[in-house]
Amino acid sequence: MIMSNTVPHRPATVLIHGGEDRTPYGETSEAMFLTSGFVYDDAEQAEATFTGAVTHYQYSRFGNPTVAAFERRMALLEGAEACRATATGMAAVNAAMLSHLRAGDRVVASRALFGSCHWIVSTLLPRLGISYVFVDAGDLQAWRVALAEPTQLVLLETPSNPMLEIVDLQAVADLAHAAGAIVVVDNVFATPLLQRPLAFGADVVVYSATKHIDGQGRVLGGAVLGGKAWIEDTLQPFIRNTGPALSPFNAWTLLKGLETLSLRVEAACARAARLADFLASQSAISRVWYPARADHPQHALAMRQMTAGGTLVTFEVAGGKAGAFRFCNALRLIAISNNLGDARSMVTHPATTTHMRIGAEERARLGITDGVVRLSVGLEDPADLIDDLTRGLQAAHYRQAAE
Ligand SMILES: Cc1ncc(COP(=O)(O)O)c(C=O)c1O
Repeated sequence: MIMSNTVPHRPATVLIHGGEDRTPYGETSEAMFLTSGFVYDDAEQAEATFTGAVTHYQYSRFGNPTVAAFERRMALLEGAEACRATATGMAAVNAAMLSHLRAGDRVVASRALFGSCHWIVSTLLPRLGISYVFVDAGDLQAWRVALAEPTQLVLLETPSNPMLEIVDLQAVADLAHAAGAIVVVDNVFATPLLQRPLAFGADVVVYSATKHIDGQGRVLGGAVLGGKAWIEDTLQPFIRNTGPALSPFNAWTLLKGLETLSLRVEAACARAARLADFLASQSAISRVWYPARADHPQHALAMRQMTAGGTLVTFEVAGGKAGAFRFCNALRLIAISNNLGDARSMVTHPATTTHMRIGAEERARLGITDGVVRLSVGLEDPADLIDDLTRGLQAAHYRQAAE
């Protein structure tokens, strides 16, 4: 028999003990149940499990003890009634949307979305007879106009990838609810520690656990969090029958990642704030976006919703694509990678990678110019990071001066 030991505490404690479900062996680290199926004592127990008369794990596509421990810890951390884990962040976004929507429905989404989320809204949904409207993230009047019509679902990301635009969560949630919509927030950039969308009226929160939650570049994972009734009646049948399940091994790795999440996010945020200030003082950088800096266009709103500026800094290198490429190519410590939220610092050039497929026109609307670089700040010594950025700046500046 498995003994339950759930301890609801403050976030740093929840990250270590939340949802603990120790077996009679008394293991310190969570047990890893690497099993696809489960056996029954007799045919009567199997029948009772399938009718729902008794609770028993059936099949890891829709229930596994290690995955369930991750789900319980995530729910406690988020302050959500329930959670379901998925194989990737995109599986979480897809499941949250497709489990809720029907042909003929209407979606209002922030224009500033991660590329694959943009594809689901603008390419997949219309194929299924679901219409959509994109709205500029920070334009409350545009949200008001878009949500003047009956709508079933609102999808947004705040801060957004890569321009770190902020959506006013409470204002948009109020408009969405009046229009009949649920609000789904992709909270990847903020992490569950810096922003809790449910407290600002959101109904569902999704994560790519691949990012800060693992935080060490090892596994893919995702999570959908919300009210118990929606998770059990709307999301769970979709997950059970379509199979975007998280593997128990990855769930275990993510449980280990959660144990150090607050330490990692706090340290990375402190470094990001320092690097943002450093970059803003450099002549080869024409602009820096970081929510905790007073010059961020939505600084006051960001600080109402978030407890720190986050682990990402976006900036524009003078000299367009050539300047940005010279900058990235001169780095020796900071890796060029489109991943983020890792212990290793990484840069990406969104116009030619993560946001290449949305097209030049859409990029221009989002402010993603050819000089924009997104920096995911890791845990290296900040002085070494500044030395490396200096190398990049010198390369960008040197050639620019020579041209
Ligand atoms: C904001 C955002 N949402 C969703 C995803 C998708 O997550 P995954 O790669 O785990 O599918 C990503 C990154 O890839 C992201 O940056």
